[in-house]
This record gives sequence, structure tokens and C-alpha cells, in this order.
Amino acid sequence: MVQQKATNVTWFEGIVTQNARENLLDQSGCVLWFTGLSGSGKSTLAIEVENVLYQRGHLTYVLDGDNVRHGLNKNLGFSPEDRAENIRRIGEVSRLFVDAGVIVMTAFISPYRTDRDNARALVSEGRFIEIFVDCAIEVCEERDTKGLYKRARAGEIKEFTGISAPYEPPIHPEITLNTDAQSIAESTKRVLDFLEQKNIVPAAAE
Ligand code: ADX
Repeated sequence: MVQQKATNVTWFEGIVTQNARENLLDQSGCVLWFTGLSGSGKSTLAIEVENVLYQRGHLTYVLDGDNVRHGLNKNLGFSPEDRAENIRRIGEVSRLFVDAGVIVMTAFISPYRTDRDNARALVSEGRFIEIFVDCAIEVCEERDTKGLYKRARAGEIKEFTGISAPYEPPIHPEITLNTDAQSIAESTKRVLDFLEQKNIVPAAAE
């Protein structure tokens, strides 16, 4: 847990509420938290889901591991402590997006259960949707889109998830997508169906 350093700070409430913003947008703010190995398909699915939601007139935003590590989290590496801080900041950013009424998609390996649970605890019940992007490491390694598995096997990258650092799969994720068996379109539909069932977005017009 990170300690509160600043004293004499008070929480400030605006006049326009989260609920009012959500009514304006005709959606519920929530986090679609994609978690899985590097190369499992988190970013691909996040941007596919975002595209479908956008076509239906929804306000969304994707926070992606590689991108966020170029800015907000550029001072963090891949030790367990740095990954925890990476996920803590993303959790806090997601919370702000949810308060804004936005459907935010996060695509981070987020290998530690505790870190993901801490992010979940920041938003109210039902607004954190954990999506386990389940893909055999052999398949991720075969894809090796960024060439990192090869380098990790050669010992050039230390603490690489799945090879020399752990990945703790979710125990009760809201959704599991098997990207080594399902197509991108099937996985995207699963997510959209879930959002409709939970009334986070209205059903698509026929
Ligand atoms: S997390 O573990 O802290 O959640 P994050 O999703 O932000 O990781 O970043 C993962 C991305 O960083 C990978 O997709 C990969 O491109 C790159 N990367 C570089 N070094 C490592 C490493 N040691 N372990 C995992 N990913 C790494």
C-alpha cells in the first residue's frame, strides 16, 4: 500500500456527477482490464473492442503497456516493485476515466494477482471487468511479434514474464478469452455480449 504523503488535502466534489456524465454518454463508465502474457493479444483485442464501441457511438479510451511506459511510467522497469507501481498508477488513471463516464480498456501484462485486485478495489462493484487473455506461452513465443521472447531466451532481457518472471493467472475473471483457439472476431463478440448483458452499453441496433 502506498502511503498518503500530502497532508491538509481534502476530497473535492464537483456539481456535475458521474451519473450525469454517464446519462449524457448513454453508457456506464467501467474498466475492461485485459491481462495476459506478452503477445497474448491484449492490445489487439482492446483496440478491436474499442473500434466496435466507437462505431456504436461510445466514448472509450485504451491505455496500453508499451505506450504508457513511454510517458507517465517511463521511470519504471520490470522488477516486481516497479510492475506494482506501474499497475497502481494505471489503476488510479482508470478510476479517473471511470469517474468521467468513459469505458477504458487497459492492456498490461499485470502479472501479479494482488496488483490487479488493488486496481479492482479502486472502482465500485461491477465496474471492473477482468479479462484473462489466455494463450499458451508456446503460441506467444511462436508469434513473438516484438522479437522479445527470442532475446529473453538468449538471456538479453532479464525478468521476462513467462520465462524468467512469473505470471499469476486470474482465479475468477469476468471473462476468459482463449486467443490460441478463438478468432479475434469471436473474442470481441464475447466482450460486447458481456457489456450488453450487464447493461453497460445498450444492445446494438438490429
Ligand atoms: S507489466 O508487467 O508491468 O504489466 P506492461 O504491460 O506495462 O508490463 O509492459 C509489458 C511490455 O513491455 C511487453 O509487452 C513487452 O513489449 C515489454 N517488455 C520489456 N521488458 C519486459 C519484461 N522483462 N517482461 C515483460 N515485458 C517486457
